[in-house]
Amino acid sequence: MPKSSMPKSSMSKSSPQVALHYADYLKLAAVLSAQAPESTRHGRPAHDEMLFIIVHQTYELWFKQILHELDRIQIDFGGEVVEDEYLGRIVHGLERINEILKLLIQQLEVLETMTPLDFLDFRDFLFPASGFQSGQFRLIEIRLGLARGMRSQYAGKPFEDTLTEADRSRIATAERAPKLIDQLDRWLSRTPFVHRPDYDFSLEYRKAVKQMLEDDAARVRANATMRPQQREAEAERIEASLEEFQAIFAPASGPSPWQMSRAAVQAALFIIVYRDRPVLQLPFRLLAALMNVDELLTLWRYRHALMVQRMIGVKIGTGGSAGHDYLRDTAAKHRIFSDLFRLSTYLIPRSRLPKLPRELEDAMGYRYAARPSA
Ligand code: HEM
Repeated sequence: MPKSSMPKSSMSKSSPQVALHYADYLKLAAVLSAQAPESTRHGRPAHDEMLFIIVHQTYELWFKQILHELDRIQIDFGGEVVEDEYLGRIVHGLERINEILKLLIQQLEVLETMTPLDFLDFRDFLFPASGFQSGQFRLIEIRLGLARGMRSQYAGKPFEDTLTEADRSRIATAERAPKLIDQLDRWLSRTPFVHRPDYDFSLEYRKAVKQMLEDDAARVRANATMRPQQREAEAERIEASLEEFQAIFAPASGPSPWQMSRAAVQAALFIIVYRDRPVLQLPFRLLAALMNVDELLTLWRYRHALMVQRMIGVKIGTGGSAGHDYLRDTAAKHRIFSDLFRLSTYLIPRSRLPKLPRELEDAMGYRYAARPSA
């Protein structure tokens, strides 16, 4: 609509007189003047330091975007009830985060065009600064659900000792707020269909697993190509694995091998095995997206650790850690949604899944059969 024909009330007094310019909108003057190589400041300019700075700054911008996505995901996911229309955009937000993480892994290749010798031209000017001090990276880990007790030790100090005051305060706020994994736990625990008066998933699944393992053991015992002792040992091993399966359903009193509640773990299993039912397709995509977040973050950690080994060998990091060894350790231990991965141990073939009652099938389907008139 041309300005002259706009109703007066819709023309704000603060409307800009000049057209918005690309450079102003993106604050390019600030962004493009924010690269200050230390090597130049020390009078020994190193060509590759510009690349080093720009790659790190780009990471921080993408971290900001990931946190922005998490803001909405956590608001949508944090209510007493997760509205149907929110579930799709939660999955969409997680999938966007995953695309960004893929880019972050790939970006290391650009940085690796800098050789270890090029890095040495300016590395000494960086002490004691380190990616370890990235407050945004810590926020992502914490908001997803990486608890303090799960962290690898870094130079014997709590990780926030190296952060700025402002970052420490943001971390403290994030630590008090709900984590994505807790929100997932609460949402999964509320999953309908898992326990009903006419159908108890945990009971039926246990029966199906028991039957499957008994059949397997019987098949082994009937296998004439094996020696009797070998047959018996193998059959006993199969029967013993039933114990492991019980871990998912065992009463809540003993120490739990799971990070999430058993109700949540059982619901996740239900969603995974019956994922083809229409109402479970989006919940399944949500679980898959969370596993991808975990996997891609882990891939980044391994990839970064490898790059560090290539750049500095076994030297300690500029932040003072054991360098590559510390980073490899975090890649193995700093997993957030590992419960979802462990569930694969408890899967049985589709042909063995307990049959769902007709009423439950209908409740989970989109097939609206015309009801016969009364
Ligand atoms: C030449 C390139 C790089 C080297 C040699 C390097 C080296 C290291 C080392 C040795 C550590 C362990 C802490 C320490 O003692 O400093 C570390 C941690 C870290 N670096 Fe890098 N890094 C490089 C590039 C990057 C880039 C591009 C990013 C992107 C933001 C990054 C982000 C991080 C983060 C987030 C940590 C903390 C990891 C954790 O504690 O789990 N690094 N880096």
